[in-house]
Amino acid sequence: MEYFAVEGGWPLEGQVPVHGAKNSALPILAATLLADGESIIHNCPSLTDCAAALEILSCLGCRVRREGETVVVNTACRRGHTIPDDLMGRMRASVLFLGPLLARDGAATACWPGGCALGARPIDLHIQAFQALGAQGRSWNGQLFFHAPTGLSGCRIALPIPSVGATENAMLAACGAAGETVIRNAAREPEIVDLARFLRAMGASIRGEGSSVITVEGGRALHGCEHTVIGDRIVAATYLSAAAAAGGDVRLTGVEPEQFSTVTSLFRDAGARVDCAPGEVRIRCGGRLTASGVIRTSPYPGFPTDAQPVVMAALCRGRGTTVFVETMFENRYRHVDELRRMGADIRVQDRVAVVTGVETLHGAPVRCTDLRGGAALCVAALAAEGETR
Ligand code: EPU
Repeated sequence: MEYFAVEGGWPLEGQVPVHGAKNSALPILAATLLADGESIIHNCPSLTDCAAALEILSCLGCRVRREGETVVVNTACRRGHTIPDDLMGRMRASVLFLGPLLARDGAATACWPGGCALGARPIDLHIQAFQALGAQGRSWNGQLFFHAPTGLSGCRIALPIPSVGATENAMLAACGAAGETVIRNAAREPEIVDLARFLRAMGASIRGEGSSVITVEGGRALHGCEHTVIGDRIVAATYLSAAAAAGGDVRLTGVEPEQFSTVTSLFRDAGARVDCAPGEVRIRCGGRLTASGVIRTSPYPGFPTDAQPVVMAALCRGRGTTVFVETMFENRYRHVDELRRMGADIRVQDRVAVVTGVETLHGAPVRCTDLRGGAALCVAALAAEGETR
């Protein structure tokens, strides 16, 4: 599909099941490499990133099949530890296959990962974690080579920032390391908790997930298992933003509202009625929202950077001024120029964006800059008068 055509200005009504969390499914698909045998993963969303992850598994000799939202991965014929360049380049999360390969084979080779252009996005913390576990790494000709000739050993890893990906890679590699690994200043996101649940179902010994200290007893033989991925809290935040922007009455199912309570309480404060119950959330919104003061993105349980673009789009028509401070990525305002084409009043300086609410947005031709930026344009388009392409 080359474009979405959105005819905006209509309230949204209805019930939507939220699909499984992309950022849970991707590390879990990588983790299947750690087990001998078959893993069955339910609620694995049909998205291009998940398709790329399944292609990586196929290239590594795994048998992979998808039936609806369930994916089955069999590692019985697993072979090799090199991830092809085109698959590495397709998404950032391809880097998460390095930890499991190191754990299984003591070797992993790949080029630098791709992904949405949100800033520099280095992987130094992943590499440092592998090195702390005893792997040697070198880069040559655009390729990264890791190997641990005598296997990985449990260690202490203190992350300077609670990186989601580095925490996941450290957990995955530590499963194959002899002895205990303690990860300090670990990321606390719900996706980390989901990965730990999956690893435990495979027979791994992990504790502390959801807190900033995670302990892994490595070296156990892991087996296939069955797991259901959590609902996608960022997709939920996107639908809530759409209903808040366009008005209406929308019920979302398949999500745990406490995982995005920063977003539900923000819309409540902005004037929407938001009712949360286990496994679902309902939003009702009549008129324009009220601006939200200062929204500062930060690691979980703070306000998620992935929800910043969609919430910004919803507040473009808010009464008053909202200030966004993006602390996670240096280049995550690329949707702003596109929102301006629709009549939004937004000024950006470095990591601060000041959104002054306008009464109406109008449809316009716009360009998706990245995944969440594109979602933000859809949110704004639903609230705008006329057609947006
Ligand atoms: N960072 C480093 N060095 C590293 C790793 C990270 O400096 O080795 C920095 C990053 O540059 C960034 C900060 O640490 O400034 C946080 O990055 P983090 O590692 O936590 O992010 P990530 O693992 O690359 C995941 C999600 C992102 C989400 C971030 C933050 C996946 C596949 N991706 O990325 O999701 O924005 O955590 O919550 O889990 C998205 O879904 O649209 C998306 C970008």
